Amino acid sequence: MKSDKDIYILGIESSCDETACSIVKNGREIVSNIIASQADFHEEYGGVVPELASRMHVDAVYPCIEDALKKADMTLEDVDAVAVTYGPGLVGALLVGLSAAKGICAATGLPLVGVNHLHGHICANYLSFPELEPPFLCLCVSGGNTQIVEVKSYTELNIIAKTRDDAAGEAIDKIARVIGLGYPGGPKMDRAGQGGDVTKYTFATAHLADSLDFSFSGIKTSALNLINGIKMKGEEIDIKDFTASYQHHLATILAKNTMKASNMTGIKKVCLAGGVSANSFLREVFDIESKKRGIELFYPKLGLCTDNAAMIASAGYFEYINGTRHGLDLNAVPSLKL
Ligand code: KG4
Repeated sequence: MKSDKDIYILGIESSCDETACSIVKNGREIVSNIIASQADFHEEYGGVVPELASRMHVDAVYPCIEDALKKADMTLEDVDAVAVTYGPGLVGALLVGLSAAKGICAATGLPLVGVNHLHGHICANYLSFPELEPPFLCLCVSGGNTQIVEVKSYTELNIIAKTRDDAAGEAIDKIARVIGLGYPGGPKMDRAGQGGDVTKYTFATAHLADSLDFSFSGIKTSALNLINGIKMKGEEIDIKDFTASYQHHLATILAKNTMKASNMTGIKKVCLAGGVSANSFLREVFDIESKKRGIELFYPKLGLCTDNAAMIASAGYFEYINGTRHGLDLNAVPSLKL
């Protein structure tokens, strides 16, 4: 039975290649969580094909919503609001989830709450740790973003560092493709490097004076040069050691700046978020560095690191109780900032 005090949010996510719908209670408790992934389909092309992604979202979005309601044993009448990702992401893909959400709100009169996808990633931590409360620092690392965010409250976010060029996920995906691991590069590289020697190969490091910002394009180029150099000598790359060394190097840089940010702000609670936060090398380096400094570290359960709608429903809940409401004229914003 639904208590009057409980708030149920229906979340919809379609910013890239997962169509997802979820129902979350009070921002913290997943009631149902449906994800239809297109990854196998895009693998054939070596990456996400935007137009095909949009078409597949069209086919999947309503079955996902129906499934999420069915699994929760609920109807739209039991839902308090509809939360939907309206950016950042692929414009055609975003429009599918957004149109579905607006259609539901137009038909039922339910409030519409637009959610920033990156805010959603941060909220995946609330779903994994029911006691977690702001303030904390969050390293958001995904395919398109790398940022250190000061989470001041459930809805107040302040970016204190960002990448000046590539995202960490891009630096992983590109090199994974070059060494033949294919798409999706992150999880494949993670598996390939298990048990490898993290000291065997060395890569460049970008030094940005007096800044907590990141730069990954030079590191990516140094990895490409290393690969080409090895090939030109007619030698073979040791994939296990190479991927272990590369991921460890990226993880060390991400941890170094995040630890510096903790030191500068005096915030001793750190969360990880976004697809790359599933990376085992990253988690290990952060575990070690946080322990050394007495920092409390949180990272979402593996299934909640990559795109899902439960995190959107959670972020939608905090926005909803903070009074956020969007009109039915809400548009997709492909390069939406936090
Ligand atoms: O957050 P996400 O699912 O989508 C975006 O909003 O971008 O992140 C996708 C990124 C991709 O770059 C993917 O390769 C990476 O997350 N990723 C990983 C792992 N799982 C996903 N990277 C490293 N190790 C993983 N285990």
